[in-house]
Amino acid sequence: MKKGILQVLQTVSPIQLEEHMLERPANSKLGDFALPCFPFAKILRKSPVSIAEEIASSLTHPSIRKVEAVNGYVNIFLNRHAITDDLLHIVLDKSAAYGSSTEGNGGVVTIDLSSPNIAKPFSMGHLRSTVIGNSIALLLEKSGYQPVKINYIGDWGTQFGKLLTAYRKWGNEEDVRKEPIKTLLKLYIRFHEEAETDPSLNDEGRAAFKALEDGDADALALWEWFKTESLNEFQRIYDLLGVSFDSYNGEAYYNDKMEPVVEELEDKGLLVESDGAMVVELEEGMPPCLIKKSDGATLYATRDLAAAIDRKNKYDFVKSIYVVGNEQSLHFTQIKNVLSKMGHDWANDITHVPFGLILQGGKKMSTRKGKIVLLEEVLKEAIELAQKNIEEKNPALANKSEVAEAVGVGAILFSDLKQHRKHDIEFDLETMLQTEGETGPYVQYAHARANSILRKAGAPNTFAISEVNDHEWDIVKLLSRFPQEVKRANDDLDPSVIAKYAVDLAQAFNSFYGNVQVLSDSANKAYRTALTECVIIVLKESLRLLGMKAPEEM
Ligand code: ARG
Repeated sequence: MKKGILQVLQTVSPIQLEEHMLERPANSKLGDFALPCFPFAKILRKSPVSIAEEIASSLTHPSIRKVEAVNGYVNIFLNRHAITDDLLHIVLDKSAAYGSSTEGNGGVVTIDLSSPNIAKPFSMGHLRSTVIGNSIALLLEKSGYQPVKINYIGDWGTQFGKLLTAYRKWGNEEDVRKEPIKTLLKLYIRFHEEAETDPSLNDEGRAAFKALEDGDADALALWEWFKTESLNEFQRIYDLLGVSFDSYNGEAYYNDKMEPVVEELEDKGLLVESDGAMVVELEEGMPPCLIKKSDGATLYATRDLAAAIDRKNKYDFVKSIYVVGNEQSLHFTQIKNVLSKMGHDWANDITHVPFGLILQGGKKMSTRKGKIVLLEEVLKEAIELAQKNIEEKNPALANKSEVAEAVGVGAILFSDLKQHRKHDIEFDLETMLQTEGETGPYVQYAHARANSILRKAGAPNTFAISEVNDHEWDIVKLLSRFPQEVKRANDDLDPSVIAKYAVDLAQAFNSFYGNVQVLSDSANKAYRTALTECVIIVLKESLRLLGMKAPEEM
């Protein structure tokens, strides 16, 4: 809409206009758009008042209903009727595809997301990565890209030698089967405690990892088992979150793919020795990238280099995204730099998408009363709370437990996604689950309310618009903005754009619902029902892009 009006304005403007010059007044009494003429006064040597009057008097277009010159502003009022009629037909016609584009041309974008470490709890950081990464994948897909979601499981490293040693000394099969991650974590913690008084344990741990690396059958079997048990536990979380992956190739997958990379670095003369270790030196001010330790062991960075190259070969991506916490920014800058030095110009297509911490009472949320917080328990708690709310407010609801899951999980997703990902966020289940304020349940509730109107009215076949009131017009303007919002969210890899938009649309719908008769005004019923149906389509699609469900009743 804005671009269109700008073009029309340009035909009568004595000055080259830019998009930011055209404002959207908060109060629609001042028009749908306003052009302040003060900046032009100097250039044209005329008063803003007369410039505004000149522009206003020559501005005509079928989309424009009225133009006023007021105190140096050109206030433009759009032809609500025609615009609304057009828009509603477009949204109803395209339905869930409204806002989709072919911008990405089918280009593959790999997304490294979630990537928890086996035998360790699924942390709040991994939750953020999963939720943000999944939403970015959905946005990319809507914009015509082909997302490939890669769960780069942390399943290799010296810690597994320690874990094997601890399990053999103190562990038993039954406990691991019952509560895999809790049990393995306890063993790992005990290893560190006992190693303080008995340092020989560390040597045992190193030896066990060496055996694992050398393919010792017994060590491998245990490691495989820990991995399977951990992945089963993670899978329950992914099922609750409704997230799936295209690949689970994790760190261990790259064990036999690092040597060629190390050789390439050597051939290109990039590998230098530093205190016995092999490193690649980087630009001034950046620490060197460690490739091999003095004992020959490879590192996290070595595996990420191998993985980046493997992904390029396998998928020929146009973009490669890593959704990983702020604290790994340096790591990804180093990886990109090393790849550039190797002559891989596609290193520029790699983007680290960082995010902040989840806090509780201002502190990093990892322990609670000295205990580990298991994400699965947090999700279940949210679902239970949602269930309790339903029992209080709508005990007759048909599919209560399904709705409770959609609302409980949705509340967590939404509170994560509504703020820009770079911010730290406070985790408070009670607040997240409220049906007022900027919450997931608030948006889901507006969607359910709209559905209940539609159920009562029946979807209209045809509709005629007599007049578009201010409440309706607010909705129409928001609906028309949806494609731009999707584009912006996608360009900035920022799902919060969609979350904020969804709150705005839900608010506009709620004030329409509170002030306008839909069912009892027979002259406008069909048109208002159509408008309601459009709100349902766009709210549902917004929630879907955030990875959330949209129950039809709550
Ligand atoms: N497993 C790592 C961690 O928990 C995250 C891995 C991120 N992805 C990557 N390609 N490095 O910290």
